[in-house]
Amino acid sequence: MTQEHTAEQHWLGRSVKRKEDDRFLQGKGNYVDDINLPGMLHMSILRSPVAHARINSIDTSAAAALPGVVAVVTGELLAQHNLAWMPTLSGDTQAVLATDKVRMQGQEVACVIAEDPYVAHDALELIEVDYDPLPVVVTPQQSLEPGAPVIRDDKEDKQDNRIYHWEAGDPEATERAFAEADRVVEYETFYPRCHPAPMETCGCVADVDPVTGKATIYMTSQAPHAHRTVFALVAGLPEHQIQIISPDIGGGFGNKVPIYPGYVVATAASLLLGRPVKWIEDRTGNLISTGFARDFYMKGQLALREDGRMLGLRVNMLSDQGYAYADAQPSKLKAGLFHIVTGSYDIPAAHVVTDGAYTNKAPGGVAYRCSFRVTEASFFIERLVQTAAYELGIDPVELRRRNFIRPEQFPYTSATGFVYDSGNYEAALDKALEMLGYEDLKAEQARARQEGKLIGIGLATFTEVVGAGPSKDYDILGLKMFDSAELRVHPTGKAILKIGVQTQGQGHETTFAQIVANELGIPPQDILVQHGDTDNTPYGLGTYASRSTPTAGAATAMVSRKLRDKARELAAHLLEVAPEDLEWVGDRFQVRGAPDRQTTIQEAAFAAYTNHPQGMEAGLEGVTYYDPPNMTYPFGTYAVAVEVDRGTGQWKVRRMVAVDDCGVRINPMIVEGQIMGGLTEGFAMAAMELITFDELGNCIGSTFSDYLIPTSWETPKFELGETVTPSPHHPIGAKGVGESATVGSPAAFVNAVVDALAHAGVRELEMPIGPDKVWQAMVEAGLAE
Ligand code: CDP
Repeated sequence: MTQEHTAEQHWLGRSVKRKEDDRFLQGKGNYVDDINLPGMLHMSILRSPVAHARINSIDTSAAAALPGVVAVVTGELLAQHNLAWMPTLSGDTQAVLATDKVRMQGQEVACVIAEDPYVAHDALELIEVDYDPLPVVVTPQQSLEPGAPVIRDDKEDKQDNRIYHWEAGDPEATERAFAEADRVVEYETFYPRCHPAPMETCGCVADVDPVTGKATIYMTSQAPHAHRTVFALVAGLPEHQIQIISPDIGGGFGNKVPIYPGYVVATAASLLLGRPVKWIEDRTGNLISTGFARDFYMKGQLALREDGRMLGLRVNMLSDQGYAYADAQPSKLKAGLFHIVTGSYDIPAAHVVTDGAYTNKAPGGVAYRCSFRVTEASFFIERLVQTAAYELGIDPVELRRRNFIRPEQFPYTSATGFVYDSGNYEAALDKALEMLGYEDLKAEQARARQEGKLIGIGLATFTEVVGAGPSKDYDILGLKMFDSAELRVHPTGKAILKIGVQTQGQGHETTFAQIVANELGIPPQDILVQHGDTDNTPYGLGTYASRSTPTAGAATAMVSRKLRDKARELAAHLLEVAPEDLEWVGDRFQVRGAPDRQTTIQEAAFAAYTNHPQGMEAGLEGVTYYDPPNMTYPFGTYAVAVEVDRGTGQWKVRRMVAVDDCGVRINPMIVEGQIMGGLTEGFAMAAMELITFDELGNCIGSTFSDYLIPTSWETPKFELGETVTPSPHHPIGAKGVGESATVGSPAAFVNAVVDALAHAGVRELEMPIGPDKVWQAMVEAGLAE
């Protein structure tokens, strides 16, 4: 066949429209709550009104008698089946339904299963629980005081509330660096508790077939395979008898990584009752009981020479984990990625100490659009560097430039032992400064100050680390963090790609098809991408921490290459030449020196089923499990200019410039969408998102009227730029990007607001920065009007 070769060969870097949007834009998405099975029952959860109490008794008789109620499940009933407690993804335990005590407000105490969701809900009010209140611990500082009530006294060997103590870096080298320093700059802050608050709350439909015993669980899960394994271990069911299906997911952001009691009780109830059971969480349930983020105290010092050269870094961190250690942390890296706390800077020595403590609050500390604790680490170093710039009287831009890891230093081993793959920090900084018009803005800021107006400029020149991860270091509950792709090309050249990761809105159905298209020349519209069904996709650890592109994206490229190798053999057979005589030109093989003799990938696929050489296995399909050799290290510069009103403390974003480098971009439009979403969440953390507690452990921030999330009205305009520094070890040079903007931007916003007041000595404003805090700081600094 000698058809003209017109196909576009390169599918990377093209803003292909999202394939999945057809169904979303027509209202045809299929979320868990859209699933309705014959004979399905509905479950509602009774939650504890108090943060810490002994349970004397639970009387469910009136609820059970309400017409329409089928069953009331308590911890006592679950205990009979050895299901009252379950493992968390960090290897701790968490109550499914409380038995002895409640340990946080909102804890799951009992569940009603009824014919109708409203009856299930109404019946909750008929359950009588007799609580004996206990002293409440709401901060990790209180929790670690000698004599504090031991929250996890269910564990026989637990005498205090400390969960972990972890250190990284070299304490002696750090001491020496501090001894040599001209200046030591300190910074202390609290990264408050916030919540991923995805648009869709958590929920499931559990359907245990009474005949076959097979459990089919439709579930809001970011990690269906890992969850299936945990279900198998908890329930003692064989894995082939558990199918977890994550249909369309309305946002996850880390919130749908942990396993929640609702999933377990619904499944147990379906098993016991022989009928499907649906549980859909309400908004308050989601905000008060599911994985929160941050709640993290940080303090540290930077040792510098007078000229601004950084010599050493010391950091102490304390984490409030709630009453169970339930965020997903690699077992070898307990403190997560505090290890990149040295940021984009060549700091020769560092010592990082971190502790985690139980409190009477919801478990979590989940990576809200972040890899483990990288958001906190990034925020800390970017705020510390700005503070150092003020203390040394060096422009924050200049101080950063003097300390950046230089391009020729990559691969760069940080003082805490991580190997950064590639970077060019100055290029991203220069681009952002140019876009912002930094010098002009500085001049305007100086003029404005003379006129009594407050303008602030804030930067974050962040590095982050995504793509968990190399199996030698990264696991969740012992499950290694590789990922997978299975590709099948059918006789007519149309393909199905099955991946181990799980999209929640990131557009994998498009970008992963683009990766295959780029490797095989099959256009994306001819490739169906499937995910989120444990019976029908290869094993993988799921989507969070921007790991999909670095892991399953790499697996997709590698499996495509495997198929291309086989297609070469098939093409050689068809063209009656040796495979080495063929060259690949993007979507076909052509004979070297005779380009009119060609075989397209579609023709090779057809031959795989109709005309394969004798001795060759038929078919064109394969699977790859990809174990990345390293993480990827995206980076960027975010620059923010704000104006502060001296009469009210209100601050307004005037400009927000974001230059990101995530290596090779598969789909620039999707990448920009990811960045804009992440910047919005970063702005939200800086300006308004807060979950807090009173001294009795009552959660303040349990509805959207007091947990504030930004609408388009509050969200600033973002100006995006890019540089491209490919990852040297990723098959297509891509780095993850989904979380970069959430990780990097809060520091840029806070740095900008602080900068507006810095000439009057203000150094710190704790997030979220409402006008009240700015006003207070202005009053103290004599800037208020
Ligand atoms: O794991 P998650 O999907 O949340 O994060 P990601 O790997 O950073 O990818 C987010 C989306 O951006 C996916 O659709 C990626 O394929 C896409 N992406 C891209 O087009 N180019 C990159 N260099 C990185 C991500």
